[in-house]
Amino acid sequence: MRVLVTGGAGFIGANFVQQTVRERPDAVVTVLDALTYAGDRSSLEPVADRVTFVHGSITDTDLVDSLVADADLVVHFAAESHNDNSLADPAPFVTTNLVGTFTLLEAVRRHGARLHHISTDEVYGDLPLGTPQRFTPDTPYNPSSPYSSTKAGSDLLVRAWVRSFGVAATISNCSNNYGPYQHVEKFVPRQVTNLIDGVRPRLYGAGANVRDWIHVEDHNSAVWAIVDRGRIGETYLIGADGETSNLDVVRTLLEVFGRDPDDFDHVADRPGHDLRYAIDATRLREELGWAPRFTDFRAGLAATVDWYRANESWWRPAKAAVEAKYAQSGQ
Ligand code: NAD
Ligand code: DAU
Repeated sequence: MRVLVTGGAGFIGANFVQQTVRERPDAVVTVLDALTYAGDRSSLEPVADRVTFVHGSITDTDLVDSLVADADLVVHFAAESHNDNSLADPAPFVTTNLVGTFTLLEAVRRHGARLHHISTDEVYGDLPLGTPQRFTPDTPYNPSSPYSSTKAGSDLLVRAWVRSFGVAATISNCSNNYGPYQHVEKFVPRQVTNLIDGVRPRLYGAGANVRDWIHVEDHNSAVWAIVDRGRIGETYLIGADGETSNLDVVRTLLEVFGRDPDDFDHVADRPGHDLRYAIDATRLREELGWAPRFTDFRAGLAATVDWYRANESWWRPAKAAVEAKYAQSGQ
């Protein structure tokens, strides 16, 4: 099977490509990635001899057309992915997440390739703290940030192309991922690399906000379950029952590092900060028989800490610039 992976040099995409090469000897993988600040070719180094890498944008109609023409399956990860960046400058979010997805959809429509569109639980907005409510595939879209609204728009484009043009696509909306190769701008790697540097973790506001953490390998095994067995036109929510407050994540990391549980700082909150995400993955579990492998969050975090300790040369070059940017917004 010829698989085109967009955004394959980013966090989840690179893990997906590595996992695919390891577990699917029949897959012939091509990566299309623009290598923005978030993309890093070295994340594909362990499988470089098994992957064709194309440096380019998903907004480039001719390039996308020629790559999709040679693919049986397109797995679409490429996006601008960071909420804080979308508050500072929404423009690339509109271009990549909306125009880029449109460009891919048109190519898929022309060539009849199968598409799996990777999306986020943030399209549903947020839930109140301390309730049992969870997102389901029927929850109305209600995104809060420029990031999540452009992801919501991209999902709606996919749905329309399925209905109007018969494009063979599926969509997944996943919760917060953690694991190797995540950019140091994101919450977990930022705090892990701060702690490696002896710097106190930074918690937005009170730290009561809740995210539903899933290991990146579990996200990617769910993507393959959907590609293999999912129903065309369907939306699958991916989550591993990992609800944890930001404060508890920071305290767990402090414990892994053998530090005092109060050894962190509160910093300025994110404007419009979503309170809580929680996924009901019943459809994925019952219809497709998927289950997560990483069910012990503390153990998964400790393994992630080990990865960042062992791979400083991967994250170090980005760290100072990320921290300088956060300092400007008091975070
Ligand atoms: P990331 O920012 O780490 O990686 C994004 C990749 O896309 C980078 O390699 C970047 O160079 C590439 N890219 C950006 N613009 C591009 C363009 N115009 N053309 C081609 N490539 C481009 O993101 P991530 O965290 O790996 O997220 C991947 C996907 O998963 C995104 O669609 C995101 O919305 C979704 N998602 C992420 C999470 C999470 O917790 N990180 C959870 C659910 C869904
Ligand atoms: O829910 C899925 C989404 O998860 C994905 O769609 C996004 O691409 C991904 O970035 C992530 O979005 P979040 O905004 O939840 O992730 P982030 O890592 O930026 O922040 C996680 C939580 O931690 C959030 O409540 C904000 C908080 N935070 C973040 C940083 C960077 C802090 O308290 N301190 C920090 O330094």
